[in-house]
Amino acid sequence: MSEITSRIGELSAHAGRTVTVRGWITHVRSSGKVAFAVIRDGTGVMQAVLVKTTLPPEVWERFKELTIETSVAVTGEVKAEPRAPGGYEMGATNLEIIGTSPLDYPIQPKEHGIDFLLDHRHFWLRSSRQRAIFLIRNEIEQAVHDFFYERGFLRVDTPILTAAIGERSGLFSTEYFDEGTAYLAQTGQLYGEAAAAAFGKIYTFGPTFRAEKSKTRRHLTEFWMIEPEVAWYDSQDNMRLQEDFVSFLVKRCLERRAAELKELERDTAPLERVKPPFHRIEYTKAVEILKGKGSAINWGDDLGAEDEALLVADYDRPVFVMNYPKEAKAFYMKENPADPRTVLCDDCLAPEGYGEIIGGSQREDDHDKLLHRIREEGLPEKAYDWYLDLRRYGTFTHSGFGLGLERTVAWICGTPHIREVIAFPRMMHRLKP
Ligand code: 4AD
Ligand code: MG
Repeated sequence: MSEITSRIGELSAHAGRTVTVRGWITHVRSSGKVAFAVIRDGTGVMQAVLVKTTLPPEVWERFKELTIETSVAVTGEVKAEPRAPGGYEMGATNLEIIGTSPLDYPIQPKEHGIDFLLDHRHFWLRSSRQRAIFLIRNEIEQAVHDFFYERGFLRVDTPILTAAIGERSGLFSTEYFDEGTAYLAQTGQLYGEAAAAAFGKIYTFGPTFRAEKSKTRRHLTEFWMIEPEVAWYDSQDNMRLQEDFVSFLVKRCLERRAAELKELERDTAPLERVKPPFHRIEYTKAVEILKGKGSAINWGDDLGAEDEALLVADYDRPVFVMNYPKEAKAFYMKENPADPRTVLCDDCLAPEGYGEIIGGSQREDDHDKLLHRIREEGLPEKAYDWYLDLRRYGTFTHSGFGLGLERTVAWICGTPHIREVIAFPRMMHRLKP
């Protein structure tokens, strides 16, 4: 090994010098006198060139042992080479094998079925496509924190083991000492509301759990959600925050992750159009439009995935569907004074058929109405005493929303199924790896 070791992504700082790079073999080819080994280390790819006549025979012989995913250390002089994969090339003076990789490495350069790939997720992550997805996911996560930090929001970490049920979807539960049943959080929202009264503007960013039996391309049983909650915001303020937030995330990826979007062959034209204001449609109007397009939806139903796709097809930007019927939504949403059959809420639907990425609402701030809804939904009243307290002691207008991270990443990446944008997806039939 040389004295300098470098990650491939940092080779530009070392052009003309002798360095050592460690990584995994992705391709090899040889003419018998000159051999090429392409190495990946997660930060980039680099081509090492081995010339038989310039190398000690035992080093040259090692080349023949290189199989896909063999881990190696190569030493040599680095030079810029626009024609080489990654733009840098190394004239190797030494090659060490660190870990061999048998010829039966499961992922081969050919088409594999999705179940096979998911069974081998621990290897599938090594592909250049997956790297592009995870760099974009990471960019979005960082942009989330930047967006809220710059706007004076406080991040609050809410519990995962909870007694109060937040949403209507399936629950995972476990016995909790002498306290009875604990549920894995479906949302951080209820705690976020308490924090908003304490700190004004907050957001949570955590894993959430739903025992969803649905096997759709947009449901996981474990996913990550970002949930801001803002004191004194009404439903209109809430939607303005949502459109600013979503536009910020998209713009950030366009600016900083162009190479990865290209790797994914993402058409960025629809993303360029994601700017405020988003379209706003009342639920009742949406049902009318959908019926006109042949949907079987009835007033009172939640929108299905197909309805959402039908609706957004007419628009070039995300769409807010506002003010759903009470019966279609969770207990905590505020009754709409203009039409008490409905609540002050919105779903933000992504374009290109990706559907709901955000659910948001103004919260019911009237103690008695909220208690009535808790009873109507048959929820365990005792578990909500502290939540009702927020309306007993200094109730306040407040609103918030939840953005599903994986649905947002899938939309921005243009991947059809959200299971590909989380490192180790959890679904009804998948707990491994
Ligand atoms: O619409 P949901 O259920 O809203 C809430 O959980 C509220 N507590 C949010 C709030 O007001 N603070 O979920 C919010 C978002 C959805 O729009 C969707 O993007 C995502 O979370 N989501 C899922 N993502 C993956 N798999 C699932 N099973 C999901 N369920 C919801
Ligand atoms: Mg929803």
